[in-house]
Amino acid sequence: MTSCGAFYKERKRSKVKQAKQVMAETQKPELQQFKGQPRLPKFIAPKRYDLKLRPDLFACKFTGTVDIDIDVTAETRFIVLNAADLSIDDGSVCFKTRQSDKEVYHPSEVILVEEDEILVLAFDGFLPIGEGILGIGFSGTLNDQMKGFYRSTYEHNGEKKNMAVTQFEPADARRCFPCWDEPAIKATFKIALEVPSELIALSNMPVIQEKLDGQLKMVSFQESPIMSTYLVAVVVGLFDYIEDLTLNGTKVRVYCQIGKTNQGKFALDVAVRTLDLYENYFSMPYSLPKLDMIAIPDFAFGAMENYGLVTYRETALLYDDQHSAAANKQRVAIVVAHELAHQWFGNLVTMEWWTHLWLNEGFATWVSYLATDCLFPEWKIWTQFLDQTTQGLRLDGLAESHAIEVEINHAHEIDEIFDAISYKKGASVIRMLQSYLGAECFQRSLASYIERYAFSNAKTEDLWTVLEEESGEPVTMLMNSWTKQKGYPVVTVKINDNNLEFEQSQFLSSGLLGDGQWIVPITLCGGSYVTRKNFLLQTKSDRLEISELVGSSNEILTEEWNQGEGDEKIPECFWYKINVDQTGFYRVKYDDQLTAGLRYAIEARCLSATDKFGILDDSYALCMACKQTFSSLLSLMDAYREELDYTVLSCLITICSEIANIAADATPESSGDIKQFFINLLQFPAGKLGWQPNSGESHLDALLRGELLTALALFGHDITLTEAVRRFYTFVDDRNTSQLPPDTRKAAYVAVMQTVTTSNRSGYESLLKVYRETDLSQEKVRILSSLASCPDPDIVLEALNFLLSSEVRSQDVVHGLAGISREGRESAWRWLKDNWDHILKTWGSGFLIARFISAIVSPFCSNKKAEEVEEFFASRMKPSIARTLKQSIERVWINAKWVQSIKSEKCLGEVAKELAHRKY
Ligand code: BES
Ligand code: ZN
Repeated sequence: MTSCGAFYKERKRSKVKQAKQVMAETQKPELQQFKGQPRLPKFIAPKRYDLKLRPDLFACKFTGTVDIDIDVTAETRFIVLNAADLSIDDGSVCFKTRQSDKEVYHPSEVILVEEDEILVLAFDGFLPIGEGILGIGFSGTLNDQMKGFYRSTYEHNGEKKNMAVTQFEPADARRCFPCWDEPAIKATFKIALEVPSELIALSNMPVIQEKLDGQLKMVSFQESPIMSTYLVAVVVGLFDYIEDLTLNGTKVRVYCQIGKTNQGKFALDVAVRTLDLYENYFSMPYSLPKLDMIAIPDFAFGAMENYGLVTYRETALLYDDQHSAAANKQRVAIVVAHELAHQWFGNLVTMEWWTHLWLNEGFATWVSYLATDCLFPEWKIWTQFLDQTTQGLRLDGLAESHAIEVEINHAHEIDEIFDAISYKKGASVIRMLQSYLGAECFQRSLASYIERYAFSNAKTEDLWTVLEEESGEPVTMLMNSWTKQKGYPVVTVKINDNNLEFEQSQFLSSGLLGDGQWIVPITLCGGSYVTRKNFLLQTKSDRLEISELVGSSNEILTEEWNQGEGDEKIPECFWYKINVDQTGFYRVKYDDQLTAGLRYAIEARCLSATDKFGILDDSYALCMACKQTFSSLLSLMDAYREELDYTVLSCLITICSEIANIAADATPESSGDIKQFFINLLQFPAGKLGWQPNSGESHLDALLRGELLTALALFGHDITLTEAVRRFYTFVDDRNTSQLPPDTRKAAYVAVMQTVTTSNRSGYESLLKVYRETDLSQEKVRILSSLASCPDPDIVLEALNFLLSSEVRSQDVVHGLAGISREGRESAWRWLKDNWDHILKTWGSGFLIARFISAIVSPFCSNKKAEEVEEFFASRMKPSIARTLKQSIERVWINAKWVQSIKSEKCLGEVAKELAHRKY
């Protein structure tokens, strides 16, 4: 435990005592009414905060004062606001009326209610209705928990230093200063910071004055427009910056560690162009005078959209020409575009309550793809968006999922909903709606929504109302079916005589039946996309007459078929693809005849990448739910043997890796053949790309190369392994060699780890050496995410222990948990149990704790294991892990059931053998 941590703990303990004591002493039964409430009482509204903070970076403490202009709207003897982990200077608390400064009220009691994170100021008499100023002095600790007001560390000229940073979303502004900490309680902020004179102090607004006072300076910032508390931000430390201007003249800066400004150029360029784009798209100028973006070495999330001062993890902001990979570049663009989208959607128009969080996050996610597509059309980012949809579908296929709109009754419950449902399902249903209403209508509606609710708050239904007004479509009814219930449908499509029959039912990965029903925007195409049909499936089932559809495209279909394959008969080439371009958030199950047609269409290259992705991913999901045989999935995968599209192959690779894990348990005798089949599938595109970038090659080829080589290394492809290891050692000797371009490094690291054993550790040691010597976070992450892929369980254990060492920042530990080898699963589980107390202590207060469970538990595939996990956690349950734990255990049940189903499949061995030996 660091000195800061120790101090923090000590202080917390004494404060608990203090708070309890006061609670016991207080005689006021009226106080009970404020306890256990999800929201603050409404009889007082803050209008303006005058906040002064003095961080002490050596002692890791801070003191502060806040003067809050408040409006008392009903007679009361209490002021109730939020505060947590703060020491309130009781004597400093006073309320003055606006009318005359002489009327000063001091509370008779100052009560911190720890469990509700509220501060109750009790006065002997009623406070007068009208405006007044509430003054409070307080102090706290710059904690190590990456939330509230915290310290992050960095090195400057070989010396370890602290910086002070805030992270307030969702509900941690109250850990920095007493405030009305709810998104709908907006006010203006006038902030001043007293800091050592050599440091840079930043906040949401530009500096208006710096006053030097010996070794210290008082930095005052311009007053902000009205905003929510969770968007207030402060950063103090040593930084360099670069800057640029938008077309409108807004100054944009990227701040980073001294000497790293070169790495900020890409993000700066993206930010300036994205701001221009959003001003245009939302028909509304950026609302603040400046925008700063800053890289923070210790950061809980990827980034945070604080108004005018966006904070980032280094990996999400910095891009190094020499050592960053194409995937890193894309991540920077997406994250910047996401956070800047929030400046409108979130900061200017804010969700009314956390129930509508998805509106912020789902929307920012969707818009970030829109912006990235405009800036980098060659990245085909909308095709890549399918990865988001798929992850949303995977989580939402669990019985333990939740609706997009969730009731939130306590601050602790908010963390849990920052998940794939809010972000990925949220973004996907927005995309579904946009594609239903049309891009122009959608944009027009958004602009009017932003205008109507600027500097205010909105609920989900407010957005639907505006869209409904603009489009004349039943948006509220349609969207309620997607945001107010969990899950999604699988649409079963059959040919019956001259009809296409559609039937919806809830899809669950467990294969069980759910009873949800949706309004499903069905889109259909066939025959080189000439045949098109869209309709809303509003009931359980519906039908379409084929003759109506075929009429327009029959000829074209026949022609194309004849050109491709000679003069075979027609039936197979009657292909219909439902959910065109995968814009709908649902899965499709086709009957045998339609499936055969689609297989033909894939092999005859009639389909777009998005549609090929959808067919593969739906088939995989249906197979997992035991609705389709494993052999038929394998044989469908074989149709992708000449695939070259990045997103489709990336999906194929994910599926291959997950199947390899399951197959090893379900059918050990065939698992060699299955792996060989996967190697065969991937070798065709890998052979085309090789190891070295071709001159002028596309971003997508660079992405693809990395993923293909990594997968081949993991499947044990000898040639890839040998080549990877050779290139790795060239790189170890010369970090600037061109032999191991950044896009291929992860593959080489994973390959090296496949060769490491307890008696041959040199590859592991070399990787750690590279880890220790690099100062690029992305390089460190690449290495961390490779270590546990080793097939030797003892090395996996060592790698996991390394994660807990002081050499790994606590923010990075999740990367090390990714990709644990199948052989290392058991040691990882034992490690989790052995270290649970420590893990809980270190990560328990944030959302990273849940990742330990999902990464280690979910890959198991036996009922016995699921029971063992349940048993272990039965006495260790915490609200912050409850949902993830249930979801992870459900996944284990699903895997176990799938394993049983595969075991019972006849002829699987022959199918696998056939595929493994097929020459392409
Ligand atoms: N508002 C979030 C950050 C956040 C997440 C705050 C959870 C509090 C709790 C931010 O806009 C965000 O969504 N960040 C993402 C990156 C984004 C590109 C998906 C993140 O941190 O992963
Ligand atoms: Zn966000």
